[in-house]
Amino acid sequence: MNDQFRDKVVFITGGVRGIGKGTAEVFSERGAKLAISDLDSEELERLETEFSSKGTEIITDKVDVTVKEDIEEFVKRTINEFGKIDVCVPNAGAIGSSGFSDRKDYNDEDWDITYKVNVKGLVNTTDSVKGHMIERESGKIVIVSSQGGRKPRGVGDKGRGNVLNPYLVSKAAAIQFTHALAIELGRFNINVNTVCPGRLWTSFWQKIAENHKALNPDFADMDPYDIFVDQIKSNFPLGRPQEPRDIGNAIAFLASEDASQITGQALNVNGGNILD
Ligand SMILES: NC(=O)c1ccc[n+]([C@@H]2O[C@H](COP(=O)([O-])OP(=O)(O)OC[C@H]3O[C@@H](n4cnc5c(N)ncnc54)[C@H](O)[C@@H]3O)[C@@H](O)[C@H]2O)c1
Repeated sequence: MNDQFRDKVVFITGGVRGIGKGTAEVFSERGAKLAISDLDSEELERLETEFSSKGTEIITDKVDVTVKEDIEEFVKRTINEFGKIDVCVPNAGAIGSSGFSDRKDYNDEDWDITYKVNVKGLVNTTDSVKGHMIERESGKIVIVSSQGGRKPRGVGDKGRGNVLNPYLVSKAAAIQFTHALAIELGRFNINVNTVCPGRLWTSFWQKIAENHKALNPDFADMDPYDIFVDQIKSNFPLGRPQEPRDIGNAIAFLASEDASQITGQALNVNGGNILD
């Protein structure tokens, strides 16, 4: 435990598992108060108990980021209960619509869900907090995008179809939105950055590995986790997957005073898989 974020309030969407939860752990260990939302109310309850028992002040709410009024409501509640929001981490994301793992090609629903959650849900989140941050002339926004938003595919993803295209385009939009928002909010002393994770074994990559297995005969007999590891070993200079806390540590850096002159940047946290 250290005091780096003592008395700071950190607002995270999609925070019950994966990168969102890893980020919550990093901030809680450095003294922050947490406001966590997600679609999954059972996991939210569990998370609240887990963090409270460690002494972290936490509030949670079931919020779908695609419903603007709901996210606005939770922002208001956070400010009422904790007095402010210092750090906002729009993290909730969608990879594709149902049946995604078995398909080679995208369908209309894939475009709709990735746009609704990864683009509009992100804008709903930042729109809901930015007025408060502007008033205080202080704030850090760290968006979770993806290295996939910079390059269409990582080397070695042989056999993959086009099913990921809507996801990749939505994450490119998140990176461009980061640049635009940083320009808009810089004069109010608000830093806006994005982290671009590479590959983590969360529900996201489980679905992608299942997709590789379904499409590529070379992978047909492999377990989805072994497909994931195989690709990491062949294509990532560091040879190991990222963990949720690796992304959380980078987010905490960008939200810290050490990064006070960094804004509008997209930071790869990807074991060297994509170099720009
Ligand atoms: N796992 C990876 O390899 C990887 C790589 C690059 C980027 N990312 C990005 O990281 C972020 C987190 O993904 P993860 O890998 O931790 O996946 P995850 O599935 O473990 O977590 C995503 C969370 O978002 C929540 N969520 C989904 N739709 C939502 C909505 N409409 N409203 C509120 N919450 C919603 C889910 O319930 C879930 O808890 C996503 O934006 C994803 O695109 C992941």
